[in-house]
Amino acid sequence: MKLRIGVFGARRGLSMVNVYLNHPDAELVAICDQSQGALDKAKAMAGSAGDSMSYYTTFDDFFNHDMDAVVLANYATEHVPYPIHFLESGRHVLSEVPACETMSQAVALIEAVEKTGKIYAFGENVSYMPVAFEMQRKYARGDIGEVMYAEGEYIHDFASIMPQITYGDKNHWRCQMYSTFYCTHSIGPVLTITGRRPVQVAGFQTNEALWMRKYGAVMAAGIEMITLDNGSILRSVHGPMKREPAGCKFMLYGMKGMMESDRFDNDLLHAYREGERVCSGDFEHYKPAIQIKAGDTHLETGHGNADLGAPHFFIQRILDRPEGHQYMIDVYTGVDMSICGILAYRSILQGNQPIKVPDLRNKGERDAYRNDHACTNRAVAGTQYIPPYPVETPPIPDATYDALRALWLKGKPAE
Ligand SMILES: NC(=O)c1ccc[n+]([C@@H]2O[C@H](COP(=O)([O-])OP(=O)(O)OC[C@H]3O[C@@H](n4cnc5c(N)ncnc54)[C@H](O)[C@@H]3O)[C@@H](O)[C@H]2O)c1
Repeated sequence: MKLRIGVFGARRGLSMVNVYLNHPDAELVAICDQSQGALDKAKAMAGSAGDSMSYYTTFDDFFNHDMDAVVLANYATEHVPYPIHFLESGRHVLSEVPACETMSQAVALIEAVEKTGKIYAFGENVSYMPVAFEMQRKYARGDIGEVMYAEGEYIHDFASIMPQITYGDKNHWRCQMYSTFYCTHSIGPVLTITGRRPVQVAGFQTNEALWMRKYGAVMAAGIEMITLDNGSILRSVHGPMKREPAGCKFMLYGMKGMMESDRFDNDLLHAYREGERVCSGDFEHYKPAIQIKAGDTHLETGHGNADLGAPHFFIQRILDRPEGHQYMIDVYTGVDMSICGILAYRSILQGNQPIKVPDLRNKGERDAYRNDHACTNRAVAGTQYIPPYPVETPPIPDATYDALRALWLKGKPAE
């Protein structure tokens, strides 16, 4: 049986369109984007396979389409409540990152998954990069022993592509996000590698990445110092800093050894494992092979083929297959990855005070957050609004956005 899939949001969503057009267990039946330009690109990608597909510009029409499961690749600040509507209508959901914008959304999302019994997968693709996926398997084998200290980095200076990813819209979430918002690419893989849970976070941010003003955003890199549930420490850092190409890098020290990806060749893994004698052991340096496969189909996806993992394991889980159970990232872990960023920003606003990260698996811990709408989006936060930058900064002139929009319309990167 093929699962009938719909994709909501056709920019990043094109990555899932590519997977589901070619996946042996899936039939892509509908794509929705309010932007006709984005939909046209999706149509071009689908080619003749798209002749039987439906294309929608409004959510309600897309929602009413008959399908088994849906991918949410809409705006990063609007992931809830869409999944709740889909789950309650009997559809499974794969959500792009992050899972939620507020603590109350985190609670509502978890409760919708529990109430409906439908599958919710969290699309943290970096966990499926060959090197991170290999680290997960090595850790499970006990190669480095129990984690003591870990680092996760996602450094991306997206100045030159700001016209393409914000279209010169000053209200786009990428122009408005606070430093620790987009935290799941650096935190997520450490949680999937170790299976541990965050219990406390202290947030920090760097000084302002001043060059980003020219590209429409007041931004700093975000840092989360996270205590995991075995007492180990994770340092996560992400955002705009100077290195090319952009990269994700991970390092873990355990009680038996350590492993890390290479700083500039992110596909290269270095590992040390202590042997029979204390303080003596073996080293390995290798590039892990791509391990995730969709049946016999050869599928090339982005981010070192990491983009296959989330959509593939999502449908394997719906089909009740062992690899889906083993590797799909569920709602609890997706929420853990996401709320660390929400709480880290509160920590920054409180002078870097450590803040408890609740375990929302426990029903008893939810009530304290049920009405916690604090975020940087006035429409969602109401009276609990918090500013997206900790200190006041001069406003970016509208002319900056006009120039970015003009570049986007011409299809040119920023310089
Ligand atoms: N995992 C990754 O590597 C990765 C990479 C890029 C983006 N993302 C995530 O993907 C999501 C989308 O980001 P993006 O880069 O595509 O940019 P984006 O947020 O600008 O694109 C979202 C698209 O959804 C459409 N959309 C939003 N609300 C809609 C509505 N109500 N009705 C119809 N269409 C609607 C928009 O028109 C737009 O084309 C975000 O959550 C982002 O965090 C993840």
